[in-house]
Amino acid sequence: MPSALSQPDLLGTECLSRDDISAILDLAGHYAQRNRSAQKSCDRLAGKIIVNMFFEDSTRTRTSFEVAAKRLGAQVVNFSASISSMNKGETFSDTMRVIESMQVDGIVMRHRTNGAPVEAAALLDIPVLNAGDGSREHPTQALLDALTMVRHKGHLGGLKVAICGDIEHSRVARSNAFLLNKFGAEVRFFAPPQFIPRDISSLNVRQCSSMEEVLQDADVAMMLRIQNERLSEGEFSMTVEDYHEQYGLNHDKLRVANPEVIVMHPAPMNRGVEITNELADDPRHSVIFEQMEMGVAVRMACLDLLVGSDSKEL
Ligand code: CP
Repeated sequence: MPSALSQPDLLGTECLSRDDISAILDLAGHYAQRNRSAQKSCDRLAGKIIVNMFFEDSTRTRTSFEVAAKRLGAQVVNFSASISSMNKGETFSDTMRVIESMQVDGIVMRHRTNGAPVEAAALLDIPVLNAGDGSREHPTQALLDALTMVRHKGHLGGLKVAICGDIEHSRVARSNAFLLNKFGAEVRFFAPPQFIPRDISSLNVRQCSSMEEVLQDADVAMMLRIQNERLSEGEFSMTVEDYHEQYGLNHDKLRVANPEVIVMHPAPMNRGVEITNELADDPRHSVIFEQMEMGVAVRMACLDLLVGSDSKEL
């Protein structure tokens, strides 16, 4: 069945067109409203089976993809990599073909290896939705971030978006940079020297050299955690206290930003490291839990547009 998007899979924001992103955000806005109403569920994906394949840990993405699919009337199967026959030597590609051969309707995949969902999509005839691959892309995170920004700022064009922390290992930073650049936002990065991405010159972002510079007049401050799971033992030796002092966000540092600045974090947060407890829970600025709410709406929109049938009513 042809997808309502210009492509059959959701693999990253770099390869999504502005029209595709706008279509997802428009539909996600509808689902966000609906999710707060008494009539949350519909039958857009009735009769469909979605398989969640998470080869790496997740709380938000996995749960919200499952909630999203169920809200749309689909059934969800959770593949468990840790008890699968991959432990007996079955290859990744054979595993993917096994799942497709069961005539399921879509696959949601998180993988620690860059490009694994792209490889799966090339093998399979059913839609593959990337739920985060290595340090490459996390498209639904950037889409839910964009929806949250639009809800608070009304638009993306011209926004000054400060992204701070471990950018080198962050698929979230990359997907946000690709998406926000397509809509004319100004994306700024500030990171410890070790965490500045090697390909920063190709990302069309402004590299800043201090928290003050990155936050100056910022409309959005997005904090990232250190991705310890992608670092080898002893690779990053800064103490938590020093990191927090130099790269963490608090109310005092935020003073140079737009007074209406929103504070975002893809989470999981390391409170007291990249962000203070007080700021993470400050309703005047923090939209961190709203981001998680928008995650369900965005994933509903992506599943609907890629797996749904045009003949079913919204
Ligand atoms: N933001 C995010 O991807 O969170 P999880 O790792 O919990 O899915």
